[in-house]
Amino acid sequence: MSESFVVTVEPLGRQVVYRGDQTILDACLRAGVWLPHSCTHGTCATCKSEVLDGDVDHSDASSFALMDFERDEGKLLTCCATPRSDVTIEAEIDIDEDIEMAPVEDYLGTLVEKSEIAKDTLRLMVELVRDIAFNAGQYMKFTVPASQSGAAVDRTWSIGSPPADSRRLEFHVRMVPGGRGTAGWVFDGLAVGDTFSMSGPYGRFVLHTGEDNHTIMVAGGTGLAPIKAMLRHGLKHAAYGGEMSLYQGGRSREWLDDVDYFTALAREFEQFTYRPCLSEETAEEVAADGGDPTAYAYGMVTDVIAADHASLSGCKGYLCGPPLMVEAALKTLMSKRLFPRDIYREEFFNAG
Ligand code: FES
Repeated sequence: MSESFVVTVEPLGRQVVYRGDQTILDACLRAGVWLPHSCTHGTCATCKSEVLDGDVDHSDASSFALMDFERDEGKLLTCCATPRSDVTIEAEIDIDEDIEMAPVEDYLGTLVEKSEIAKDTLRLMVELVRDIAFNAGQYMKFTVPASQSGAAVDRTWSIGSPPADSRRLEFHVRMVPGGRGTAGWVFDGLAVGDTFSMSGPYGRFVLHTGEDNHTIMVAGGTGLAPIKAMLRHGLKHAAYGGEMSLYQGGRSREWLDDVDYFTALAREFEQFTYRPCLSEETAEEVAADGGDPTAYAYGMVTDVIAADHASLSGCKGYLCGPPLMVEAALKTLMSKRLFPRDIYREEFFNAG
């Protein structure tokens, strides 16, 4: 039987009873106490906090995300650490008070649809046995079952459907060769009708709906999924007041998912502008095999944004995708006079 400890979270002054095999982060999120986090597996350092009192086991926190001298100074990664006694930690609470975050809970999901939507990319539609509350942009943690290639592992994928669809969730999964969760499960083994465990919602990359600024959204790869949830929620359910623009980057058309969906959305909502950008395919190549060259912009997504806008002052930015793309987009938006505090971003570290 595992021991039970009390975790006190400052500056909130909230207390959580910790029982057994979770991390401090999980125990807090499940008790409805919000702590900052992103990757949830010890690599991004978003959850780094300070131990004010008590002992913790750092478990498998990477020495890049939590360096030895930081451990000595009393820092911890809440997504890896477990308490060894009653502990008091101090976290940097970075979520707006006006955004309500649902507690993390366990769910059973059944795969009801699996389809290819871009090169090496699948859409999964998952039916839950009960409703889930989440914010547009959050993600779920899937339990990849144990198999011949190893013990059960966790993988996280963002929800691409809006919170109004509280039982049927959409996910986009990109293949990682040799990956236990992607190549070894989603792409090879997981079939329609299969049931599996998941938990969530996680993440702080969420749409801030009480605003009417022009929203510039930039997505690369499966970073499109949380952006899609935000757009669907903002346009169809939350009556978001401002303009919304989506810049979706890909090397060529085969790498861009849901182009038809967003093209139709742009026809339906005047306030929404869609710019699919091709970095390695030209207008001539698109025309040569019967495509509509006017449907795309050409060049890196950051160059297209820069050419479209003299200034982005007063806008909000939402960036999601590979770290290099997010970094480049951040620089572009800032060079167009958008403040860092007005740019929300999520970098995808694909664990495979
Ligand atoms: Fe803890 Fe990423 S290191 S959330």
